[in-house]
Amino acid sequence: MSEVAKITLDGETHEFPVVVGTENEKAIDISKLRGTTGYVTLDPGFKNTGSTKSAITFLNGEDGILRYRGYPIEQLAEKASFLEVAYLLIYGELPTKIQLETFENEITRHTLVHEDMKTLLRAFPAGAHPMGVAASLIVSLSTFYPESQDPNRNKEALNLTIIRLLAKLPTIAAWAYKFSKRHPVVYPKNKYNYVENFLNMMFQLPTEDYEVNPIVSKALNTLLILHADHEQNCSTSTVRIVGSSHANLYASISAGISALWGPLHGGANQAVIEMLEAIKADGGNIDKWIAKAKDKNDPFRLMGFGHRVYKNFDPRATIIKKAADDVLSSLGIDDPVLDIAKQIEEIALKDEYFVKRGLYPNVDFYSGIIYRAIGIPTEMFTVMFAIGRLPGWIAQWKEMLEDKAPIGRPRQIYTGPNKRDYVEIEKR
Ligand code: CMC
Repeated sequence: MSEVAKITLDGETHEFPVVVGTENEKAIDISKLRGTTGYVTLDPGFKNTGSTKSAITFLNGEDGILRYRGYPIEQLAEKASFLEVAYLLIYGELPTKIQLETFENEITRHTLVHEDMKTLLRAFPAGAHPMGVAASLIVSLSTFYPESQDPNRNKEALNLTIIRLLAKLPTIAAWAYKFSKRHPVVYPKNKYNYVENFLNMMFQLPTEDYEVNPIVSKALNTLLILHADHEQNCSTSTVRIVGSSHANLYASISAGISALWGPLHGGANQAVIEMLEAIKADGGNIDKWIAKAKDKNDPFRLMGFGHRVYKNFDPRATIIKKAADDVLSSLGIDDPVLDIAKQIEEIALKDEYFVKRGLYPNVDFYSGIIYRAIGIPTEMFTVMFAIGRLPGWIAQWKEMLEDKAPIGRPRQIYTGPNKRDYVEIEKR
C-alpha cells in the first residue's frame, strides 16, 4: 500500500498521498490541503516545498550528486560539448551524431542579431551593466519575432525560438560588453564552434586578430556545462512561474536573467572578485574579513561560500576547482587577487564556523577565479552564468508547458492591520 501522511487539524485527521520520485525522494502532496482543511502551508523561501515534478535534473545536496537526465555531471563535464548537453536537457536524450550536427548548424545559422538591435544598444549609457542590457535585449527579441508571442502556437515555431535564443544570447552578451566600452562589435563567425565564437566576439579587436586559446575554450566549455541546469533554483523557478502565465519564452528567459543577477544567486561570481579586490585594497588582512563574515552584527558574508541545497560539498565545485588549478598553471597566471582566494579557501575550509554550518566554496567561488584568469571582465561574469544556464531554463519552461502546469500563484498569511475606516487627510 502506498504511504500516506496524516495531519490532524481542529481535532480531525486528514490523509494526504506521499509522492515518491525515481531516486526515492519523497513528498507529501498537499495540493488538496486548502480545499479540504482551509489551511495553507507556510514555507518562506520554499525551503521545503516541491513546486513541481521534473524529469530534467536530479540533485542530492547531502551526498553532493548532480545529474542531467540521469547522466552524472562529472561525465558530462569531462566528455561532452556544451551544445550536446543543451540538447540533452531540452530534448531529453543525448543527440546522435547527425542530430547534434543539425542542432549545431541551426544554431550557427541564427547567431546574427537584427541590425536594429544596435539602435537599442546605442541607447544604453556607457558602462551599462551587461546583465541589464542582456535582460532587455532578450525580451526585445519577442518584438522582432512576434510569432513567438504565443507559446502554444506549434512545435516548429517553439523550436525556432529555442534555436534563436541559444544562438543569439552569446552575440547579445558580447555586444552588450563591446557597447558598454564603446568598442566596435564583432560579428559572429560560422567557422567557430559555440564557445570559440563567443570568445572571438568578446576579445577580437579591430587592431589585431584574436587567436582562440584551446585551454581557455575548454575551461569555458566545462563552466557552461556545470551551469547548464540546477533544478528549481531562484532564476529557474522565476522562468517557470513567468511562463506559467503563458508569457512567451523570450519574456520568461529575460525574467530568469534578472533573477540570476542578484549577488545571492548568479551575481555571486562577480561579488567574489569584488570581495577579493576589496580585501586586497584593505591590505590583504584575510583574518579580519573572515572574522567579519562570522560576526552576526556585520552583514558581510563570504561571497562564494555556502549553498541552499549543498550542505556537504558542491559536486560542481570539485570539478571546477580542478579546472581552475589547470587554467592557472597552464596560463602561468600570477595574480595577487587569486592568491587571496587560495588563502581564504584554505582558512575557511578549516574554520569551525564554516565547517559546522556546512559552508564550502561553491561553484561561483571557482568560476569567478577562472573567468578572471581567462580575461573575462568582472561585470560579465553573471552573463557567462546566464549563457550556461540558458538550456536549463528552456528545458524547464518547455517541461512546465508540456505538463500543462497551472499558473503559479502562491498563498500568504496576512499579518497587516485588521479592517479600519478611511480617515480624511485633514483629520489625520
Ligand atoms: N558567509 C558567512 N556566513 C554564512 C554564509 C556566508 N557566505 N552563508 C551562510 N552563512 C551562515 C548564515 O549566517 C547562517 O548562520 P546561523 O545559522 O548562525 O544563523 C547559516 O550560515 C545558514 O545560512 P542561511 O542564510 O540560512 O542559508 P541559506 O541556505 O538560506 O543561504 C546562500 C544560502 C547561498 C544564500 C548563502 O550561503 C549565501 O548568502 N552565500 C553567499 C552568496 C553566494 O555565494 N551565493 C551563491 C550561491 S551558489 C550559486 C547559485 O546556485 O546560485
